Amino acid sequence: MNQDEAKLRIDTLTHELEEHNHHYYIQNNPTISDYDFDQLLKELEALETQFPTLAHQNSPTKRVGGDITKKFKSVVHDYPMLSLSNSYSKEEIAEFESRARKLTEADMEYVCELKYDGVAIGIKYVNGIFERAVTRGDGAKGEDVSANVRTIKTIPMRVRGEGFPSEFEIRGEIFFPLDGFQKLNEAREQSGEPLYANPRNTASGTLKNQDSSLVADRNLDSYLYGVYSRDRIAPTHYDSVKQAGEWGFHVPDERKNMIRLCKSIDEIMDFINYWDEARHALNFEIDGVVIKVNDFMQQEDLGYTAKSPRWAIAYKFKAAEVTTELESVAYQVGRTGAITPVANLSPVLLAGTTVRRASLHNADQIEKLDLRIGDHVYVEKGGEIIPKVTAVEMKQRPADSLPFQYITHCPECDTELIRKEGEAQHYCPNETGCPPQIKGRMQHFISRRAMDIEGLGAETIDQLHEAGLINNIGDLYDLQADQLLPLERMAQKSVDNMLEGIILSKNIPFERVLFGLGIRYVGETVAKKLARHFHSIEAVMNASLETLVEVDEIGGRIAESVVEFFSIEANKTLIQRLMEAGLQLSIPEDQLADNTDILSGFSFVISGVFERHSRDELKELIEKNGGKNTGSVSAKTSYLLAGEGMGPSKRAKAEKLEVKIISEADFESMIN
Ligand code: IVH
Repeated sequence: MNQDEAKLRIDTLTHELEEHNHHYYIQNNPTISDYDFDQLLKELEALETQFPTLAHQNSPTKRVGGDITKKFKSVVHDYPMLSLSNSYSKEEIAEFESRARKLTEADMEYVCELKYDGVAIGIKYVNGIFERAVTRGDGAKGEDVSANVRTIKTIPMRVRGEGFPSEFEIRGEIFFPLDGFQKLNEAREQSGEPLYANPRNTASGTLKNQDSSLVADRNLDSYLYGVYSRDRIAPTHYDSVKQAGEWGFHVPDERKNMIRLCKSIDEIMDFINYWDEARHALNFEIDGVVIKVNDFMQQEDLGYTAKSPRWAIAYKFKAAEVTTELESVAYQVGRTGAITPVANLSPVLLAGTTVRRASLHNADQIEKLDLRIGDHVYVEKGGEIIPKVTAVEMKQRPADSLPFQYITHCPECDTELIRKEGEAQHYCPNETGCPPQIKGRMQHFISRRAMDIEGLGAETIDQLHEAGLINNIGDLYDLQADQLLPLERMAQKSVDNMLEGIILSKNIPFERVLFGLGIRYVGETVAKKLARHFHSIEAVMNASLETLVEVDEIGGRIAESVVEFFSIEANKTLIQRLMEAGLQLSIPEDQLADNTDILSGFSFVISGVFERHSRDELKELIEKNGGKNTGSVSAKTSYLLAGEGMGPSKRAKAEKLEVKIISEADFESMIN
C-alpha cells in the first residue's frame, strides 16, 4: 500500500469506527458485531503503525488509552466554570421560581435536569474536532486531562452533522457507572486492596491518573448539559441541548424523563418528586435536580452573582436515611484474614429496599460512633453501595446498655487477632488454619482473573474442603477422579471437566499465577510488574525490601507484604509443590530471549511519531532491555527519544536540562 492509499484507508476506517462507536454508545443501537469492530480497529492500528504520520490525533485507537501524562497542564478556561446555588428546601425552589417569574411579563419556561454526581468537564471542539478537555479546577483554570477523556466512549472525537460553530465548548459531567464501580471494588476486595469509598471520588481520581489505559479500563461515562460558544446556537437552553444531541453528544433522554420543559412550579415539583424516588434505579448517582431558566435572553437579564448564575438553582436530595435498632454485630473474615464488622439491624425499608445489614468498616468506626448493641441508629444510603450507620440516637439509648466490646479473637478459628501499627483493620494471623482464609485463598486462585479454572467454582471449593480433600491450592493438583466421584453432585462428566480444567491451568502465565497466590496488596497490576521485573518466582522470593521498592510503582507496603509472604515456611513449601506440579512459575526462556539489561538505569521519554516502530513498540523495547519509560522530561531523564512532530516545548526543556536527544536510528544502534 502506498502513502495515498494508506491515507484513504486510514480516513475511511477512522470515520467508520467513529460511526459504529456513536451507534453503540450514544444510540444504544449497535451496527456491527464486537468481533468485526475489533477487526477494523486492528486494521487501523496496523496502518497507523506502518504510517505513523497519517494517524489522526483523535484516532479511535486512542480510545483504549496508552498515552501517559506525567503532569497535567494548567489551562485557563475560555468561559469561567461557575457553580450552582443549591438548596435542600422546596420552599426555596418556589422562591427562586417566583423571583425569576417577576422578571418578565411573558410566560416563563424552565428546564429541569438531573444533577449528576460526578466530575465537571469542559471540552473544546475546533472545526468539529475534539481539541482538549479541562477539569473545573478553581473555576478560572483547570487541568488538561485530554488523553484520559479521549478514552471515554460517550464523548465524541468528531462532531456529527453540520451547522456547528467553528469553536465551541461542551460542558458536562463525567461519572463512574455503578455496576462498573461495584465490579472494581469486588476485584480490589479479591486482591486484598482497600475499597474505594464512592463512585464520585473514584471518577475524579481516575480522571487524574497518569496512565490513560487504566482510565480506558474503567469505562467512565458522561452526560453533557451545556454548550458555550460566541456564536448563538439556539434561542433556548433546551434547544441547545437537543442540538448537542444531534451533534453526537450524550445528552439526557427526554423519553426517560431525564430532561423536562416545565411551565409552572407544580411541574417542577413533579420532576423533583419523581426523581427523588426513581434515582435509586439509575446506574449512576445523582445528588439532586437542576432547574434552569430556558430562554437565553432571560438568563442574561437575570445575570450572575460572583459565584453562580441567578438563572439556575439545584435542588439537592437528602441522602435517604432511616433509624432502626442495632441488634448485633457480626464479623466477617476475608481471604487475607482482615476482619470486617457488619451491623445486623432490625429490617427497615430504605430507598426502595429492605436493609438488614450495614457496613461498620472497622473498630475505630464503631468507637467514633460510640455504638452500643440495642442502640437506635441512623442508616444512610448515600454515595456508597452498602448502607452505612452514620450516627446513634442518644436519646433512645437504653439505660442499661454497656459499652461496645470489639472481639479479641477470630470468630471462625478463635485465634487472637492482631492489629498492625497504623492500620485500622484487625487481622486473624492464623493463615493456614482459619477456614474462611483457607477457602477464600483457594477461591481467589481459581477465579477468572487468576487461574480461571473451568469446571471448578467457589461452591465446589467449599465442598472439597469440607470433604477434607483440599486445604491449599497445592492440593488441587493432586486430586484424583476416584476421590471425587463418590461426592454429592459429582457426575463423571463434571469430574472430567474439573480435572481437565486443573491440568489446563498449568499453562496460565506466571503473572497470573503470582496474582492467584493472593499475596496481600498484590493485585493484577502489581503481579504483572513483579513478574516482568523478576522473571521467576525464585527471584521474587529472594528479593529484599530494597530491591522490591526499586521496581516501578512498588511501594513499601507492597514490598513488606511480599517479603512477609515468602518468609512463611508453609508458603515456601507450597511454591515447591506448585513447581513440581508444573505450573508456570517463570517467564519462558524464548520470551526472555531478546531481553537484555543494556538500558538498565536509563530512563526514556518518547515523543513524536517514528518511521519504523510505533510508540508502544519502542516502549516495549525499552522495557525488554531493562530501561524505564516515563511521561515527561525531568532532570532524571536519560534520553529523549524524538520522533517527527515532537512538541517544541519538550525539546526546549530537554535542552535546558541537558537531556540527550536521540533519534529512532540512534536508539536502534543502542540496543543492537
Ligand atoms: S449547570 C453555571 N447542569 O454541578 C453552572 N451543572 O455546582 C453550570 N452539575 O460542578 C452548571 N449536573 O458540574 C449544570 N445538569 C447539570 C448538572 C450540573 C451536575 C454539576 C456541575 C457543577 C456543579 C454545580
